[in-house]
Amino acid sequence: MEFKIKNICCIGAGYVGGPSMAVIAKNCPDLEVNVVDINRERINKWNSENFDELPIYEPGLKEIIKRCRGLNLHFSTEVKKNIANADLIFISVNTPTKTKGVGAGQASDLKYVDSSAREIAKYAKGKTIVVEKSTLPVRTAQTIKNILEQSNIDNRDTKGNQREFFVLSNPEFLAEGTAINDLENPDRILIGGEDQEAIQGLANIYENWISERKIITTNLWSSELSKLIANAFLAQRISSINSISALCESTGADISEVKLAIGSDKRIGNKFLNSGPGFGGSCFKKDISNLIYIANHYGLYEVSEYWQNVISINAWQTNRISKIVVEKLFNTISFKKISILGFAFKANTNDTRESPAIKICKDLLEENCKLAIYDPQVSPLQIEYDLQLKQSDNLSNNDQAEWTFADTVIDASINSDAILVITEWEEFKFINWEIVYKHMRKPAWIFDTRSIVDINKVKMSGINFWQIGKGKI
Ligand code: NAD
Ligand code: UGA
Repeated sequence: MEFKIKNICCIGAGYVGGPSMAVIAKNCPDLEVNVVDINRERINKWNSENFDELPIYEPGLKEIIKRCRGLNLHFSTEVKKNIANADLIFISVNTPTKTKGVGAGQASDLKYVDSSAREIAKYAKGKTIVVEKSTLPVRTAQTIKNILEQSNIDNRDTKGNQREFFVLSNPEFLAEGTAINDLENPDRILIGGEDQEAIQGLANIYENWISERKIITTNLWSSELSKLIANAFLAQRISSINSISALCESTGADISEVKLAIGSDKRIGNKFLNSGPGFGGSCFKKDISNLIYIANHYGLYEVSEYWQNVISINAWQTNRISKIVVEKLFNTISFKKISILGFAFKANTNDTRESPAIKICKDLLEENCKLAIYDPQVSPLQIEYDLQLKQSDNLSNNDQAEWTFADTVIDASINSDAILVITEWEEFKFINWEIVYKHMRKPAWIFDTRSIVDINKVKMSGINFWQIGKGKI
């Protein structure tokens, strides 16, 4: 049976649901795309008149929302109505790590997926394709199928019509900060499923703007597992290069030269080899933790230990940054002011989930220093939430941990003893260090955890300089 898809519903209007549905709506003007969420505040922001108030910052997103919202793209809290009208439903809800109970700290918390499936089971009509877009433990599709098929004895909708569900896995590979480009030009689209017509129905949507040869179809379990493994492999590369950054610092080697030398080998490739303060973001740690949990579940303890090390090296890399800062500043930073440049977990996003900046700032505050934090997209309210500490209007002169939000790099640098670059925002590459130096207390330091500061310019300004993976300055 061929599927005629006219109406799409996406449950979850977050970093994945919002941008991915916007790109579908833009490329498929004949489809009606409804994005629903239980978070009214988030939906209000998606519907805000001022496009600068959208709930997420992503280059290129605002323009698509301007073009499609109200035409064939709608954001609402009307879950029931939009499920009932949908031919195809994406589940794009959050799947955080469980914080308590069985598997706490490792297993994915599937409560939002479970409740989405139950909502679909209650309200869907006729034949419905249900697509896992969230990242899920392998074999979750079976649970979703069970909920859909067993929640209603004869599986009839409210009008008595026979219903049928087709569950597919279609994980999302977008990265934040480049989401729109990743969605417009993906490396591949992965669809796992059992029913060929349902798979083709979903593939037809993507084929509106993506070449057929980029669409990979697999069985459900390969698709679910591949998403976890893609993230695990990416994170593993970062832990590998970060472990070597420390070795460079100890031996006089230079991590950017090592990166060039090894990345020129086509088998290794030059992407994803930037050492930094440790990977952040809502997914790498969560997904590897989930992989570890699954491996343990199947008794594959060596496998789980292998992946555990990727997480351990990452935590070690983040932890060593604040230690280096304290050591260089004569082993004490109390009464000292440190400027933090960048709080988001990477450039071009306002997302701070698992940002290394959070741990580094907390570690520095433990030493009773003063922080001036500047980020072009993260709000002071978000930083207060992440640090669990209210910001001060003015930094005092006493021996007390405090932080304040700075509106510019220069504001942050005034009277500061050190500047710590944590996020690789483009504007930090073009800072005039001679001007900044004049505002700082001497001796002044720069700590560059992203290798984006131009060493020659810094040298000219006279500031003391430390850069990740740089054995010799
Ligand atoms: P998010 O927290 O930004 O958004 C999820 C949204 O789902 C929230 O707004 C929440 O209110 C909503 N929600 C939860 N339960 C609901 C329900 N029953 N009904 C309606 N709405 C509900 O999460 P995200 O970053 O968009 O991630 C979603 C999934 O996609 C996760 O599994 C994640 O691992 C995966 N993923 C994320 C990214 C990324 O870059 N953030 C990339 C690829 C995959
Ligand atoms: C990552 C993956 O890249 C996406 O393919 C995936 O869909 C997504 O996770 C997900 O499942 O959530 P994202 O976390 O948004 O995307 O961003 P990345 O570009 O992967 O960066 C993750 C972290 O690694 C950031 O803190 C970044 O600064 C760091 N990183 C990245 C490095 O330290 N070095 C690098 O070379 C690359």
